[in-house]
Amino acid sequence: MERFYITTPIYYVNDVPHIGHAYTTLLADVLSRYHRLLGIRTHFLTGTDEHGQKVYEAAKRLEISPQEQCDRTVVRFEELWKRLEITNDDFIRTTDPRHKGVVQEILAELFERDEIYRGDYEGWYSVREERFYTEAELVDGRSPEGSEVEKITESNYFFRMSKYQDWLISYIGENPEFIQPEFRRNETLGFLRQPLGDLCISRPKTRLPWGIELPFDSDYVCYVWFDALVNYISAIGYRHDEERFASWWPANYHLIGKDILTTHTVYWPTMLHAMGLAMPRTIFAHGWWLTNDTKMSKSIGNVTNPMEMADKYGVDALRYFLMAEMSLGKDANFSEHAFTLRYNADLANDLGNLASRSLRMVERNLEARIPAPDPTRLGAAEEQLRAACLAAVEHMEDHLTGMSLDRGLAEVMSAVRAANKYFDQAAPWKLLGAEDEAAFRTVLYNTLEALRIISGLLYPVIPEKMRELRRSMGLPEETLEPRLEQLRSWGGLEAGTALRELSALFPRIQRPKKKADPKATSKRDAPPGIQWIKYDNFARLELKVAQIRSAEAVADAERLLKLQIDLGDETRQVIAGIAAWYQPDDLLGKKVIALTNLEPAEIRGIRSEGMLLAAKKGKTLRLLTVDGKLPPGSGVS
Ligand code: MSP
Repeated sequence: MERFYITTPIYYVNDVPHIGHAYTTLLADVLSRYHRLLGIRTHFLTGTDEHGQKVYEAAKRLEISPQEQCDRTVVRFEELWKRLEITNDDFIRTTDPRHKGVVQEILAELFERDEIYRGDYEGWYSVREERFYTEAELVDGRSPEGSEVEKITESNYFFRMSKYQDWLISYIGENPEFIQPEFRRNETLGFLRQPLGDLCISRPKTRLPWGIELPFDSDYVCYVWFDALVNYISAIGYRHDEERFASWWPANYHLIGKDILTTHTVYWPTMLHAMGLAMPRTIFAHGWWLTNDTKMSKSIGNVTNPMEMADKYGVDALRYFLMAEMSLGKDANFSEHAFTLRYNADLANDLGNLASRSLRMVERNLEARIPAPDPTRLGAAEEQLRAACLAAVEHMEDHLTGMSLDRGLAEVMSAVRAANKYFDQAAPWKLLGAEDEAAFRTVLYNTLEALRIISGLLYPVIPEKMRELRRSMGLPEETLEPRLEQLRSWGGLEAGTALRELSALFPRIQRPKKKADPKATSKRDAPPGIQWIKYDNFARLELKVAQIRSAEAVADAERLLKLQIDLGDETRQVIAGIAAWYQPDDLLGKKVIALTNLEPAEIRGIRSEGMLLAAKKGKTLRLLTVDGKLPPGSGVS
């Protein structure tokens, strides 16, 4: 592929953007960034759909002009894209003269060629809703909204869409990649089993004055979809800069939500065909973001504002969640609870932990320079780690082509876990100070090298944080944004390179307390005295193996001991009420189980960050310990 042109739908400027809108643009951004990483010339277009009934009505409600409505609302989109680090190459507004002119030229040409004709439109019109319904859409002689309808005939202009029906059916049949996923392709083919009518492409100004005027009849404006779809070609110079146009068209991907499938897979291809233009390679329809299984939409009032999420949790966290959580093509639920779970598990625990503990160890023990690995120390564990990272690169590329980004990300996360496992098993802290310094250096080199590849692979999704991480690893400025080529081989880190400071990448989110759900616990089927809980509730507890490094009595509190516990990558202070059962010295070196996401507390004015688990019966209390060898920081599940 020598170039990549990707588009998003252009958004109506009748309201502020929500997570559903942000998603498509983000997806296009991530795909664009990956293609740039592959060294492919990329053009990424987004924009706003500013004509039509919806925008006109929004303006009327606010008692402002439609143009004013557009100018005010477009800013919300532009600001959001900036905040979400969207790297679009162009932003088209359908009120731009460069767009309006092209729409008028297309209309004039198609009218001239009799692809557009004047005819009568007969239908059921609701004065209250200002729109037509077909006979089949009526419910008991009224509009589906319940308003009165009257049969009226209106003179209008029509595009001869029907004559392209057979052509479209065979085109879809012959080009399996044209509409994706495959079940959406079948949906369009199903729709095309009914006879296709001609498309009414005009609205009389008496009914809707806001739109692009028809060049051959000033009493009418162009139907908003016929106008909007043209953005994909007007923005790249159709009819005005043929060279530029030819260098991008046909688009590689039109990304859309599933609700605008027919307009994109029936109206648009037939329009293009009538204009004598090639078809886009793929129209890809993704699913919806839902709130509690219902489509997120302003009219339902269940929307999440992406700006607020970015302010609360950071842009990168939001980008990662949206990309990792939705299987392309399917619907996905959005909830802050799921967001927090995924963030804490993937970003704070797995990735953040890997980065902070390995870099800190190099900082403290190797004068903050990348160590030289010892080639004689490369064994099966190193080979496994190398294979896991390089496989993640390959898989990510395959998943990009297959539009299964969530699975690509899952592969990268499994490389992160492989690196954590390697680190845990090699236990470099044990090699510290021992005579085997070469082994220590080798483990750290390999862990950082894994991190170099992983951070490069995640760059398109979490650009800000991966840039920070790569900078702190001492990578040269020009490779902070990597090329995929640089990730395909092992050993890219140069020994001796100085690290730079690293701030906490993904601080843990204290999970919001969920409102009690009466359905979550069911006393009905539980034995007396037991209240079932959902596994989710248990999973919210973060339990870890902790090694007690020091213990001392607390002045004036005879039941308390002050402990320093080692959690692998950090040491914490915990105040435990166990002095009646343990002498401080009995505790040193013991591996116990700690609850580590308990809200920190002040006990007798001393900070306590966590709690040790113990079993108690009558007057006896014993701490829970681990049966066998496990390093501090190991998870408990
Ligand atoms: N203006 C038209 C598109 C014209 S393209 C030539 C339009 N605009 S829209 O603002 O209503 O929707 C834009 C996109 O947002 C659509 O792809 C739609 O599917 C998507 N989403 C709106 N709500 C959504 C969710 N809850 N979830 C995911 N995407 C959804 O349609």
